Formats: sequence, C-alpha cells, structure tokens
Amino acid sequence: MKDVYLNGDFLPADQAKVSVFDRGFLLGDGVYEVIPVYAGRCFQLAGHLERLQASLDGVRMSNPHTISEWETLIEQLVERNGSGDQSLYLQVTRGVAPRDHVFPEGVTPTAFAMCNPLQATPEKYKQHGIAAITVPDIRWQHCNIKAITLLPNSLLKQQAQDAGAEEALLIRDGYLTEGATSNAYVVIDGTVYTAPKDEKVLPGITREVILELAAKNGISVIEQAVTESQLKQADEVWVSSSTKEVLPVTTLDGEAVGQGVPGPIWQKIDALYQQYKQQSIS
Ligand SMILES: Cc1ncc(COP(=O)(O)O)c(C=O)c1O
Repeated sequence: MKDVYLNGDFLPADQAKVSVFDRGFLLGDGVYEVIPVYAGRCFQLAGHLERLQASLDGVRMSNPHTISEWETLIEQLVERNGSGDQSLYLQVTRGVAPRDHVFPEGVTPTAFAMCNPLQATPEKYKQHGIAAITVPDIRWQHCNIKAITLLPNSLLKQQAQDAGAEEALLIRDGYLTEGATSNAYVVIDGTVYTAPKDEKVLPGITREVILELAAKNGISVIEQAVTESQLKQADEVWVSSSTKEVLPVTTLDGEAVGQGVPGPIWQKIDALYQQYKQQSIS
C-alpha cells in the first residue's frame, strides 16, 4: 500500500492518523464500501457511490463529498497505488466528538479511502466450488446498510473458517437471507431464487449485475427467500460479492449440493459475468 486518502489529503499509510475520539473507533458509527478495480478502472463505481449515499442516509450521516469529488479522489488514489487490479475501500464515520450515544452537532465526518491488492479468486473455487455452513443470522435489523459494525459478520465468517468452510449462509426465521460476506442464490428446477432487497440483506452491487445479466439472457430469477429445507435440497447454490464475483457452493454442512460440482446455470452466469466485466473495463 502506498498512499491512503484521509480528510482531503493523500499520505503514506503509516502517517495517516485518526483521533481516538472518532465515533468510528468508539461506537462503530460509520459506513463503508468495497469496490473492485480492474486494470486501474473501478467496476460499477456509480452503483457503489449510490449505495454509499443510501447507507449514509440510513444512519442520518452527511456525505463529506459530492459524487464528482469521490470520483476524482478515487481516480487519484488508484493512480497513486499503481493502477492495475485493486480492492478499493471507502469509509465514512460521523467524525470526532466527546463520546456520547446521541449524535454530535456540527461535526465534520471522517472520510477515509485505501487501496489493497485485489486477491484473485483461487481457480479451485471455480473448478470445484466452495464449502459453506448454515448458521443463525445473528445480525441486526438493518442489514441493507453497509455499516462498519461487522462483529456479527466477523464471528459468523470465523465460524465458517473453523468448520473448514469458506462462507456462512445465514438463516433468519427459517429462511436464507444471504452470506456473512456475500449475497446468496439457490437454483431449484432451473429457476434462481435470491432474497428480495429489504432490510434483511445488503443490496449487493454484484447481485444487481447478476440479475440484469440473467434477465437479458433468459435465466429465470425470482426475488424470493427460500426456506432452509429448500436450500438443503437445492440443485445449485451460489454466493456473490464484488471481490469474489460469483462462486458455486458445492458442499453445504458437509453434504454435496446437487451433484457436488459447479452447476450448469452457475457456469452460464459466470461466463456472462466475466464477459460483462471485460466489456466494462476495456
Ligand atoms: C453481508 C454482505 N452481503 C452481500 C455482499 C455483496 O455485496 P457486493 O456485491 O456489493 O460486494 C457483501 C459484500 O461484502 C456483504 O458483506
């Protein structure tokens, strides 16, 4: 990592300092975005900046930058970090104030951005699929907000890792919501089911792309949550996120999903996704 962006300045990461009174540090009072950068170009930037605004609105926080200010600073930051493939992280917190649950008045939000190397998805995940476990969705009631308060997601992801799996699929009131770090899809009799956009799931940017590609290419999708027992009998299960793209889940709670190999509809959507990505960045 070369430079990071903090409150109007670009500076080396080890020189970027935030007050211990920042509400992000003391209260987890902030929101964030993760945006993939391919060959120096942000993928689906407009969607990410729109969702950032929605998250800020959701927690009644002001946006420290206009869309064009974000675009400019992001372009500069990506360039300072050598372009290429990167994972761009944006974070806004409510700012620095004496610790109090009630919002402070007249405080400037803290704006932070950094680039990390984009970890390529291991080829074996696409060839053989990944393993997932089902766990109770212990998160709050506003999962549509991309809040930095990620302790439940972190506990759930660690639980998956401890079980030798790559992702945790979350069950709330008997229904699949999403993954600890991804949206989830279930294929039953040729139709793809994914939970609708409400407060129980994050409106994934990758999910949006997948749904558009499916609609344009005759893949039937129903935005409806499936039950845990439908999930367990699914022909295919996938997860999606900006940095992992679309991955097939071939083992669930130690049992094979469908035939235990990446399914034909995943193959189709992954090919469409890769094609769309190439077109968008070329
Ligand atoms: C809980 C959760 N759901 C869904 C997603 C996928 O969102 P996106 O496709 O915008 O990366 C993520 C990504 O980090 C996530 O953490």
